Amino acid sequence: VAKINSNYQKLAAGYLFPEIGRRVAKFASENPNAKVIRLGIGDVVLPLPAPILKAFHDGVDEMGVVSSFKGYGPEQGYAFLREAIAEHFKSQGANVDSDEVFVSDGSKCDTGNIQEIFALDSTIAVTDPVYPVYVDTNVMAGRTGAADENGRYGKLVYMPATADNNFDPSLPTGHVDLIYLCSPNNPTGAVMSREALAKWVAYAKQEGAVILFDSAYEAFITEPGLVKSIYEIPGAREVSIEFRSFSKTAGFTGVRCAYTVVPK
Ligand SMILES: Cc1ncc(COP(=O)(O)O)c(C=O)c1O
Repeated sequence: VAKINSNYQKLAAGYLFPEIGRRVAKFASENPNAKVIRLGIGDVVLPLPAPILKAFHDGVDEMGVVSSFKGYGPEQGYAFLREAIAEHFKSQGANVDSDEVFVSDGSKCDTGNIQEIFALDSTIAVTDPVYPVYVDTNVMAGRTGAADENGRYGKLVYMPATADNNFDPSLPTGHVDLIYLCSPNNPTGAVMSREALAKWVAYAKQEGAVILFDSAYEAFITEPGLVKSIYEIPGAREVSIEFRSFSKTAGFTGVRCAYTVVPK
């Protein structure tokens, strides 16, 4: 008998974005003249820039000619792109090699899928509030208990990041195995300082934990001295995986292209 994965039934509130979508659609149909400012799912408002469009067109044309047809690409991504990404990290003071870069179909997918390589009894720490993908994928995998009336799951370690602590989450008081950090943060917008990140790297080393560092919004950091990659922190290569995306910089939302760095 086929049985449903009962962990899915713990997704009490459903995935946040479809729920926001349902409420917005209901409100809009009941108030057809209202101008709705959407602060839910992030999306770009401008079309793809011309150089990207041209590269897409060129890529499709190559696939239509015997001499340049490629078929499936290498599973880690084309070398030219991985090398350019590694150079970009190096220009930011982060030591990343091209064979440590995994090009993908979006960092939503990567931040959601990464948990599959870790044991089911791993303890997970997330900031609160948090990008819901990190939580929901661990719920579905069975690493959490049931949701309480506030939508917080048992067994998850929540680290508040609110105005009370200047959106700077404190280290967990006990041991955790996996720590999701996002900087610049969705949804708070806060950027973690070099000192704060160094503190997390030291904690991860001490606990044998892994930091899953989502820097999808790194391109928006313009203030000198702020860290863009966790690999700018000494020792971070031993304890962190970093996720980045083209969505936020190059108008790729809806196309999804991203990459993950897993240091050797
Ligand atoms: C923090 C964060 N990570 C990842 C993503 C997803 O990026 P992608 O479009 O590459 O899947 C988003 C987009 O909403 C995000 O806000």
